[in-house]
Amino acid sequence: MAEKIAETLAVSKAYPNGGKTICVLDEVNLSLYTGDFAILLGPSGSGKSTLLHIMGLLDLPDSGAVRLFGEEALSLDERGKAGLRLQKLGFVFQFDSLLPEFTVLENADLPAMLAGTPDPDKAMSILRRFGMEELAHKMPSQLSGGEKQRVAIARALRNNPRLLLADEPTGNLDSRNTKIVLEDLSRLAKEGIAVLMATHDSRATAYATKVLTLEKGKISLNDNCLHIN
Ligand SMILES: Nc1ncnc2c1ncn2[C@@H]1O[C@H](COP(=O)(O)OP(=O)(O)OP(=O)(O)O)[C@@H](O)[C@H]1O
Ligand SMILES: [Mg+2]
Repeated sequence: MAEKIAETLAVSKAYPNGGKTICVLDEVNLSLYTGDFAILLGPSGSGKSTLLHIMGLLDLPDSGAVRLFGEEALSLDERGKAGLRLQKLGFVFQFDSLLPEFTVLENADLPAMLAGTPDPDKAMSILRRFGMEELAHKMPSQLSGGEKQRVAIARALRNNPRLLLADEPTGNLDSRNTKIVLEDLSRLAKEGIAVLMATHDSRATAYATKVLTLEKGKISLNDNCLHIN
């Protein structure tokens, strides 16, 4: 029986723009279960990153609720949110998020370091999974954009999250590495975590269990998986 991992209830967020207000998220309801590999599509500026940041407790909605692992998460204090993010959530940021003064291996081990359980061997095994062991001792500035993105994915998986929120994780990748990442995320979902991935790449829908489209503040769901090639 699939377990509900994450839920947004009537989540709304608006930003002022000139003299007007843009309603980016308009009472968005969304549920993710164990085994879900959900793809979030939508035009640039439609609010994909905003929604992921709210679900990842990195930003607050104007109204609505976010339930993670069965508990109301927005009312947790900063310490509670940080603990939940560290123990159960993996987040892949859309833009370069590696710490420049740390090596690839240290970046990959960072969540475990923060949790007080560093283990470079484990971090190395995740890097190996993404074919990056040879990069382990490089600095982020010595990596290509795609390599950085793969390190960020490895880092997000370091603490074995139950929910992975990935914001355009394949945006800088060539088709071979895109396939590796999509297969990996799909396998993680099959193993029982929930994955929500924002992307512009409609090829990802072929791997998805759910395709969500965000447009004009509203989410539409296609459970049958549209395969767009
Ligand atoms: N801090 C902010 N202040 C004002 N407006 C913002 C802020 N953050 C986002 N926005 C606006 O909210 C809208 C949604 O932005 P968001 O980054 O969530 O879109 P997106 O779907 O992730 O786009 P992309 O596909 O380009 O990454 C955009 O119009 C953006 O300009
Ligand atoms: Mg975005």
